Amino acid sequence: MSEGILLAKVARGTLLPEAERLARLDEALPQIRAAVEGEQDEVALEATLACLLWEALPQANWCGFYRRVAERELAVGPYQGGMGCLRIAFERGVCGAAARTGRIQRVPDVQAFPGHIACDDATRSELVIPILDGAGALRGVFDLDSPELDAFSEGEATRLAALIAEVFRGPVSWAPRSE
Ligand code: SME
Repeated sequence: MSEGILLAKVARGTLLPEAERLARLDEALPQIRAAVEGEQDEVALEATLACLLWEALPQANWCGFYRRVAERELAVGPYQGGMGCLRIAFERGVCGAAARTGRIQRVPDVQAFPGHIACDDATRSELVIPILDGAGALRGVFDLDSPELDAFSEGEATRLAALIAEVFRGPVSWAPRSE
């Protein structure tokens, strides 16, 4: 039975210096890859990644997935943190922008992002990474929020995007989409 990942305990909400955050991710990512190795079920992958990345990213107050459930609509999937908005249209928010453009959205200050959706008023910065399947189709987004400004660096975005691409590019049995 896996006990999760081995990392130094850090209090939730702590924004470590970037060098320490990158070292912590570099320690966590091989363990996370090993934990999901061979798993193909979408929900099992998302639930496990949300749990383990929550542990690896103490600066986050929300860590989870939105799944594409219609041509231009996302619905919340597995996550850690306070209650997330249930549905997000492609035309709305940071998640919508990532789904619409297929591009990573790194937002150092959400109050400077027109149309940001505040599921939690305490959120100050955000990182959203699109999820593409093996055929390059947009399947959803991975979303991180923090109560600290500029809490997700380019280095963290690059490492997390590589993990997401690797995990979801492979053979995944996607949960049925309900309109
Ligand atoms: N802030 C997001 C909505 C989801 S919550 O962060 C969980 C957005 O603007 O799309």
